[in-house]
Amino acid sequence: TLPVPNVQSLATSIDKSTQIPERYVRPEVKADPIAHNNEIELPVIDLAKLIDPEFSKEEAAKLHFTCQEWGFFQLVNHGVPEELIEGLKANTMEFFNKSLEEKMLYKQNNDGTLQGYGQAFVISEEQKLDWSDLFYVMTRPIALRNMKFWPTSPSTFRDNIDRYSLELTKLASCLWQYIATNLGVAKEVFAELFKDHPQGMRFNYYPPCPEADKVIGVSPHSDATGFSILLQINDVQGLQIRKNGEWIAVSALPNAFIVNLGDITEVLSNGIYKSIEHRAMINTENPRISLVAFHGPDNSIMLRPLPEAVGDGKLNYGSMSYQEFMKALFNKKLEGKSIIDKLKL
Ligand code: SIN
Ligand code: FE2
Repeated sequence: TLPVPNVQSLATSIDKSTQIPERYVRPEVKADPIAHNNEIELPVIDLAKLIDPEFSKEEAAKLHFTCQEWGFFQLVNHGVPEELIEGLKANTMEFFNKSLEEKMLYKQNNDGTLQGYGQAFVISEEQKLDWSDLFYVMTRPIALRNMKFWPTSPSTFRDNIDRYSLELTKLASCLWQYIATNLGVAKEVFAELFKDHPQGMRFNYYPPCPEADKVIGVSPHSDATGFSILLQINDVQGLQIRKNGEWIAVSALPNAFIVNLGDITEVLSNGIYKSIEHRAMINTENPRISLVAFHGPDNSIMLRPLPEAVGDGKLNYGSMSYQEFMKALFNKKLEGKSIIDKLKL
């Protein structure tokens, strides 16, 4: 990642009369307006129903349909303690409200892992830049943690990240069981693919912008993971997904998780499930803060459609090692679904 300005500081220096630096101006936003002015609420999956024998079958069928048609859903009754979520939200807001100098104590150091405070996927001086800053830490397996990137202030932040990381790991394993079953794959097969799965957490800070319709918070992309679990920290919406070729603004209930399937799941499922392109947009008034937890497969796996998902049908993707896939990911600007498209047969 090349050094680029801190967007939170840049945004405070800009008012209605100043021009936004050219590197952030994205003419495509106006050229490609969203399909619905009102936000659409994402389909809701209820985890309490999913694990309740009385309702499980029906809810699992809904999950299967939603994974096929949307690749995105909001998860309610997820069981992660509200007190933990509230604590983590407060910590995150407090962290981003610190001075630039304090946040820079956790600056990325280009160790190739994206960890720390800064930006992602900046590989050329010419490319357009996203209107956001991020803070990223590897959370699991625990051996991959680099504690120098874990803020010591606010004082409960580290502990809350650790607890949240464990809760989401349990949640991810639970969801994977239902996804495996829905695909006709033995739970053990999935458990093996995702054993010791890497988990990373990306905290996003999107400052407001006086010309919000000229910038993009996070460029269109699909997630290079098994699946991602997004928590909107301050209840400001801004997520858009590409559905049937059109951008749709989506919203979520407070404290629901937004879950989206990643590229790995698309390939493993032979395309039965899709990893949907999405982007984050900016508004003129309020900062938006979100937290995405990525849940990847075991680092050593070979990425290819599972035979159970292919059945007697056509094989839709070739194979590639997951490590090769990740190398390709970090070598370019994150854009659309270009890596996974190369695997398509
Ligand atoms: C992302 O997909 O990287 C961020 C999404 C969001 O902040 O809503
Ligand atoms: Fe994403």
